[in-house]
Amino acid sequence: MDVMYAFDIDKHGDKAVLYADLASALAALTADEPDAIANMANAAALIWEYLPDLNWAGFYRAVGDELLLGPFQGKTACIRIPFGRGVCGAAAATHEPQCVADVHEFPGHIACDAISASELVMPIVHEGRLIGVLDLDSPIKGRFDEVDVTGCAELMAVLGPRIAA
Ligand code: SME
Repeated sequence: MDVMYAFDIDKHGDKAVLYADLASALAALTADEPDAIANMANAAALIWEYLPDLNWAGFYRAVGDELLLGPFQGKTACIRIPFGRGVCGAAAATHEPQCVADVHEFPGHIACDAISASELVMPIVHEGRLIGVLDLDSPIKGRFDEVDVTGCAELMAVLGPRIAA
């Protein structure tokens, strides 16, 4: 049977290779689609399927001076986060990735799912403007490292222009 999208991605192999494969898949998935919500929805599903040890993966969009919940996979989450609050708000306020090994040590961390132990938030900036953030949560302390930060930056460099409209 033909499926709409079939990706040849080894989710248990080298992590840098995994991110490169995901970036190619994301580029293909979003190539002909101008709708931001549709592209974020497929990006969340792709990341959720292939990145191991996550309990939440998705997007918050920058709307006014707060972050508004966007497409995601995982448990229901808080809907609005002011810039500067929690891990997502810190990424939005600084435009810098936030890689938090232990969320319980992060001042102002917002607990949406009690099992979250570590978190990576990647701001999505297009032509100097904050579009939103990618938020990844893991039940494992110290789940995210520099390879994840670089890999997620690459993914958002692909996605940013395709959700900026
Ligand atoms: N933990 C985040 C809130 C979003 S949820 O994890 C999905 C934060 O502190 O910003």
